[in-house]
Amino acid sequence: MKDILQMNEIVELVRMVTNMYAHGWDERNGGNVSVLLDESELGQYLDLSKVIRTIPTGFEAPELEGKCFLVTGTGKYFKNVQYDPAKNLGIVRVADKGRTAELLWGLTDGGKFTSEFPAHMMSHIARLKEDPKNRVILHCHPNNLLAMTFVHSLDEKEFTRTLWQMCTECVLVFPEGVNVLPWMVCGTNEIGMAPAEKMKTARLVVWAQHGIYGAGRDMDETFGLIETAEKAAEVYLKIAHLPWKQTITDEDMHQIEKRFNVKAREGYLN
Ligand code: 13P
Ligand code: ZN
Repeated sequence: MKDILQMNEIVELVRMVTNMYAHGWDERNGGNVSVLLDESELGQYLDLSKVIRTIPTGFEAPELEGKCFLVTGTGKYFKNVQYDPAKNLGIVRVADKGRTAELLWGLTDGGKFTSEFPAHMMSHIARLKEDPKNRVILHCHPNNLLAMTFVHSLDEKEFTRTLWQMCTECVLVFPEGVNVLPWMVCGTNEIGMAPAEKMKTARLVVWAQHGIYGAGRDMDETFGLIETAEKAAEVYLKIAHLPWKQTITDEDMHQIEKRFNVKAREGYLN
């Protein structure tokens, strides 16, 4: 067996959550990540017939039965992951139509996967329907996006258009825009459906007064989406209270569409 700590996804995830903490997006235990793993690759690192323990999920997700995920643990601090990946992370296989998750590696202190596990699993289902190559769901609490949800309209078109206007690259990086959820209690199964529903039409879902969910084919894409939206929110907060002399116009964005062969969300540009 190969050394699991050398597995690409673990190496990359440890680097990413360390970086997220450094960005200030994940205070305390804030944020969580799940990565869909390739079973045949995982079999080179773990005996997949050895289940350490079975953890009830409290929901059903038959679509994901048999699929394996690398996940962050609930209550774990991203700043600590690099020092003890096996305690702070886990690899689970979805079993019994999604009603349980079999722990195959990690969570060595007896811990459990993130409390946002339902939202992550439902979001994977939603994104995989849109893009069979989607593998990553990422949730965190970036300062500027969070702050923006206090002072900006939560209308999805208006929120998206403001972000697009803040940096040239935004419409290119997330042409489908961002969807927005109102404030809600976190970590409940019922709420799990809400981000997933919003994930059907966008890879970014801003959660008012809480943070953001991102989805992508790999960790770079997903981190990069959030990084770009967060930068736009930062620019917005720097200028929102000042008189604007110019901005990126809809005509400018149509030029970007043509030059880079992307299509902004239908009806979002004039
Ligand atoms: P967990 O520690 O359970 O992952 O929760 C963190 C969080 O960000 C909740 O929204
Ligand atoms: Zn959160």
